[in-house]
Amino acid sequence: MSMTLDSIVPFGRSLLEYQRMFNLSPQDLGQRILGCGDGPASFNAELHQLGCDNVISIDPIYAVGGEVIQQRFEQVVDDIIAQVKATPEDWVWRDHHDPEALRRHRLQTLQMFLQDYELGRQTGRYQVASLPTLPFADQQFDLALCSHLLFLYSDHLDYTFHLDSIQELCRVATQVRIFPLITLALQRSPYIDALRPTLADRGITSDIIPVAYELQKGGNEMVVFSQKI
Ligand SMILES: C[S@@+](CC[C@H](N)C(=O)[O-])C[C@H]1O[C@@H](n2cnc3c(N)ncnc32)[C@H](O)[C@@H]1O
Repeated sequence: MSMTLDSIVPFGRSLLEYQRMFNLSPQDLGQRILGCGDGPASFNAELHQLGCDNVISIDPIYAVGGEVIQQRFEQVVDDIIAQVKATPEDWVWRDHHDPEALRRHRLQTLQMFLQDYELGRQTGRYQVASLPTLPFADQQFDLALCSHLLFLYSDHLDYTFHLDSIQELCRVATQVRIFPLITLALQRSPYIDALRPTLADRGITSDIIPVAYELQKGGNEMVVFSQKI
């Protein structure tokens, strides 16, 4: 058993982590991207700093201000790092040196996000929205990315939520990438293999692809969904 969480936590990853979780090429980063459930990730903020305004991040947490997001992060971070320290065999220390380095990185990521958040809210780069229904036009995006929400929280979000959410993501984006495919308990999500044939019947293809990123042991694959043409 690796990690137990009562709810979905606002823990964010950096641009480099997104690049490694999703095999993002320089061409990918130039596309119209939807970051779904981006929370306090600094993916959007760091790309903005590099002069790219092609990412819209959505999350229900964007209904509240930065101070509240910071408080929610602070409420959970000690427990999460303590759980990581208690289960050393469950983690791969390649991208992060050790649990305290992971804490520092998550804090740095949160700070980069917070510095960008108010401006990004005003300009529409951070929008309040929630799966399984998104306020976007069909194929408004080239690429939708969803990290550490679907599949990871299989104990909190049921099969129907996953099915509806993936179909909705495929409606608004030409290609959808989701990472990881394992749960908080390091088990392959029970939904991934059940969903793929159902989605294939509805015209959505899927490929499971190994990626360079691995922090949870065994969490080194993403799934790529696209509409059959
Ligand atoms: C663990 S965080 C991951 C943040 C970011 N994707 C990353 O990997 O750095 C999960 C995020 O999913 C968001 N979330 C929860 N329910 C959601 C929903 N129904 N639709 C979209 N996002 C949701 C949470 O608010 C939280 O910010």
